[in-house]
Amino acid sequence: MSLELHQATPSEGSPNRAALAGHVGVESLIVSADHAAAFRSYQQGLGIQPLLLAGDALEVLKRLPAESIDFVMTSPPYWGKREYEAGGIGLEADYRDFVKDLSAICFEVKRILKSTGSFWLNLGDTYSNKGLIGIPWRVAFELTDNQGWTLRNSVIWNKLKGGMDNSKDRLGNVHENVFHFVKQAKGYYYDADAIRSKPREAKIVNGSVISATGVSGVRYKRQLELSTALSDAERKAAFNALAKMLADVSSGNVSDFRMVIRGQQRATHSDSEKVSGRAKELRDKGFYFLKYHPKGSKPFDVWDIIPEDTQRRETHFAPYPVDLCRLPLMATCPVGGIALDPFCGTGTTLVAARNLGRKSVGIDISCRYLELTQERCDLLI
Ligand SMILES: C[S@@+](CC[C@H](N)C(=O)[O-])C[C@H]1O[C@@H](n2cnc3c(N)ncnc32)[C@H](O)[C@@H]1O
Repeated sequence: MSLELHQATPSEGSPNRAALAGHVGVESLIVSADHAAAFRSYQQGLGIQPLLLAGDALEVLKRLPAESIDFVMTSPPYWGKREYEAGGIGLEADYRDFVKDLSAICFEVKRILKSTGSFWLNLGDTYSNKGLIGIPWRVAFELTDNQGWTLRNSVIWNKLKGGMDNSKDRLGNVHENVFHFVKQAKGYYYDADAIRSKPREAKIVNGSVISATGVSGVRYKRQLELSTALSDAERKAAFNALAKMLADVSSGNVSDFRMVIRGQQRATHSDSEKVSGRAKELRDKGFYFLKYHPKGSKPFDVWDIIPEDTQRRETHFAPYPVDLCRLPLMATCPVGGIALDPFCGTGTTLVAARNLGRKSVGIDISCRYLELTQERCDLLI
């Protein structure tokens, strides 16, 4: 992920504006020494303005207590693009060293993350000698194979518009990965209901119930009547089950459904009864239902989100957009929890956390970026 600066920055060495003691979080803090004490004080405080820790991510993380953070989301520098004034990772001559350096930081992330916590890692790829290196997956495999993380999702962030690309012998690049890792495969915090899209409601038209997507049951009834693939007993059972399903839609117990009838619909499962319970149901009963979740559907793992416009806007500093962080925060950072970004830059993760009422901690090697984060977050007071 790249980052561009578009604002005049405050004078160097500007003093920290709030004393740590008694910090209630009206202003963001930049702390460049005794990070452990600053964190303890922040952890105990009530405020949700971010705590900003200046320094190298690996060194700062080492000073934070184990199992103290609920959620980590970050977008580290790309490998091989020299764009940050304060150095840091991404400048290694060999991509293998970059993978090693980044993985060492992820190892510390694992230590400070609670066992119920989540780690969301946004990574972009790089070409070298015309070859795409596959950096995101090299890092992901290092984390799963050598650090014991469980990878729950690989989200494709579709940026919808690509950067400048003059190549004439390959496609334009428009996506990055956002990996969701957890420390334990089961029992990690996940509020799926917080990210469901609200289901549309069924309607009653001329006395008949019609689901939000227009299912009235008329077509299924007709298919059942005409079916030669069902026995009379199966047909009767299917009619009764369909009537019950329509009643459930009408009462709001089911938000919507599809019916799959033997010999009629294209099945949505494997045909092998060994691997699919649905194939078995179709064989034994002649039909089955696909029910939509009454609280709405879960998002899928391709997200269309336009990067922040770094060219025109005055107040936004990085292409990594606030919207990219919203869903991870809502699903995997409990209210009252602490979010952390070890490559905080201009603080997008922290802004998203602040907007959603979560506490947050940002680490960056560049004080200049932290000052911009500070300004940006203080605007939210
Ligand atoms: C892609 S930018 C992050 C952008 C950020 N998401 C935002 O909202 O602005 C990567 C950041 O990592 C920082 N960085 C690079 N190496 C670092 C290190 N070893 N420790 C801490 N920060 C580092 C850079 O200074 C830069 O601000």
